[in-house]
Amino acid sequence: MHLAALHTPSQIQLNRHGHLKHFLTIEGLSKATLSKILDTAQSFFNANNQLITTPLLEGRTVMNLFFENSTRTRTTFEAAAKRLSANVLNIDIARSSTSKGETLRDTLWNLEAMAADLFVVRHSSSGAAHFIAQTVCPQVAIINAGDGRHAHPTQAMLDMLTIRRETQKDFSELSVAIIGDIKHSRVARSDVAALQTLGCRDIRVIAPNTLLPYGFEAFGPGVRLFNQMEQGIADCDVIITLRIQNERINSPALASQSEFYKMYGLNPQRLALAKDDCIVMHPGPMNRGVEIESSIADGPRSVILNQVTNGIAVRMAVLALAMQGQLEEQGLIEAIAQ
Ligand code: CP
Repeated sequence: MHLAALHTPSQIQLNRHGHLKHFLTIEGLSKATLSKILDTAQSFFNANNQLITTPLLEGRTVMNLFFENSTRTRTTFEAAAKRLSANVLNIDIARSSTSKGETLRDTLWNLEAMAADLFVVRHSSSGAAHFIAQTVCPQVAIINAGDGRHAHPTQAMLDMLTIRRETQKDFSELSVAIIGDIKHSRVARSDVAALQTLGCRDIRVIAPNTLLPYGFEAFGPGVRLFNQMEQGIADCDVIITLRIQNERINSPALASQSEFYKMYGLNPQRLALAKDDCIVMHPGPMNRGVEIESSIADGPRSVILNQVTNGIAVRMAVLALAMQGQLEEQGLIEAIAQ
């Protein structure tokens, strides 16, 4: 599927009342919808800032379908579903009958027949979650947990929740720098889209030209390109460093890890150019000493582990809202005010 075909998905993601029923990508969703996800996620923290447990999805079955490896996303989706009292099944794709030649379609229809209400899908092919939502199992709520280079919408929303909780500022007041391998990063695409939708006016993308996607200008309003790290992070409020994909190191896109670190690695000297209260984020997995120095990753400005905790709250919100939206669509519950 061509990526352009994935950029107008509001009809697929929203039910006839305009409420979320699948969560596939940030593009096409309104500021009100993203704010609703953030507000709902925030409501899952109690007054002591601890995550709560609530029976919102009691009796519902969530299936995690990870066709690609994951530590954070898969585990936090499982933790989120359990905190909502859902039944959670982690499907072991490597041991499934896909290895005997069963098609994706047949695998999913069989899982749907086991009373699945919601699929969380990670796949190396861009568009896999759209394909499932559109043509395979439209009556199951589909959550995209990362598809190829296309989108990682729950990562973007946990990043937005982290920015909101840590800075306590409106997005329109913030300067956000995203550094590294933009070209191959689904996180960068989804973060930029979420920041734009939430009103951020100063989004700085910092990368060598070889790690920028073709048609970078299409990223749209508020986005500026910097090839020089020092210029890009000057006076910014938020720095998001991205993983350099080891599998691409020593390709023509990147000469070496040490060269990347020299040009774009986040170290104390560079961080000193940002605002004094600038926060440092990373979606993980991190390559210490390549895109980020350990003293920064483990230092006082790092909110990297807070991102992981916030990921549970965001995934609780997305699971709960998509389940409600799917039931509304099928006429199984009344429309709710979102
Ligand atoms: N950030 C992220 O998607 O991490 P995992 O690949 O470990 O899920």
